[in-house]
Amino acid sequence: MSDYSSYFDANKQLWNQRTAVHKDSSFYNLAGFKAGENVLTPIELNELGDVKGKTMLHLQCHFGMDSLNWARLGAVVTGVDLSDEAIKEAKQLNNDLGMNATFICCNVYDLKEHLNEKFDIVFTSYGTIGWLPDLNKWAEIISCYLKPGGIFYMADFHPVLWMFDDEFTHFQYSYENSEVIITESEGTYTDRDADIMGKEYGWNHSISEILNALITNGLQIGHFNEFMYSPYACFRNTVEFEKSKWHIKGLEGKIPMVYSIRAVKQ
Ligand SMILES: C[S@@+](CC[C@H](N)C(=O)[O-])C[C@H]1O[C@@H](n2cnc3c(N)ncnc32)[C@H](O)[C@@H]1O
Repeated sequence: MSDYSSYFDANKQLWNQRTAVHKDSSFYNLAGFKAGENVLTPIELNELGDVKGKTMLHLQCHFGMDSLNWARLGAVVTGVDLSDEAIKEAKQLNNDLGMNATFICCNVYDLKEHLNEKFDIVFTSYGTIGWLPDLNKWAEIISCYLKPGGIFYMADFHPVLWMFDDEFTHFQYSYENSEVIITESEGTYTDRDADIMGKEYGWNHSISEILNALITNGLQIGHFNEFMYSPYACFRNTVEFEKSKWHIKGLEGKIPMVYSIRAVKQ
């Protein structure tokens, strides 16, 4: 893989800044989660199903709230994230709640230097591969950490969304991974006015790139689904048309906003 280290360093700084704002935001509802509320969406809850007694590797776990939600449902979870601030929060949350999840701070691409174990499930969700330049390497890592018969599950925002400008008025970016996308980030999706500034480096991946990376690395696709709404209000210019389902204003019902994949390691 080419040397992307300066991009990853910049992204890490930004995610460290974001974590400080996210953990106290109403968007993430950490207080509710601590009080016992579920924070996972019906999409992954319905599609991944029962995780009781299963070992789960959660890639890009942010500050660990979703990971600990799966742990509450009975999974034995290991969460991984690039941001040291996020992993510090995740470990604190794990301690505060008296849970026994494990959290590792590292780049997904460097995981083999930190972890030597096979899992029943590898999980990742909502804001993941857009920070990863090379999906073949990503899928190779997923495959490496799954037991034979183990399940890979992901739910994420649809590549069509990442083609638009922030206000969803026109196409600004390429559908496929043709170049690094450099954006000047201000604020964050939980608070547009937050005092957060920095350059962000991302990559757009087409559906065929995602699926072929998984297939090439020994994962048999069981389902691929698309959803015409977002379960999160993390984009500008959206409207909640049903409880916890958001559309882009003016594009209601016209574009997919989320996709999910369930695959089995051969
Ligand atoms: C949107 S969040 C994760 C999504 C999760 N649904 C959430 O909101 O809690 C994206 C996470 O990816 C992490 N991340 C970005 N690039 C990464 C990389 N190369 N390796 C590991 N983690 C990375 C960031 O630090 C951040 O915590």
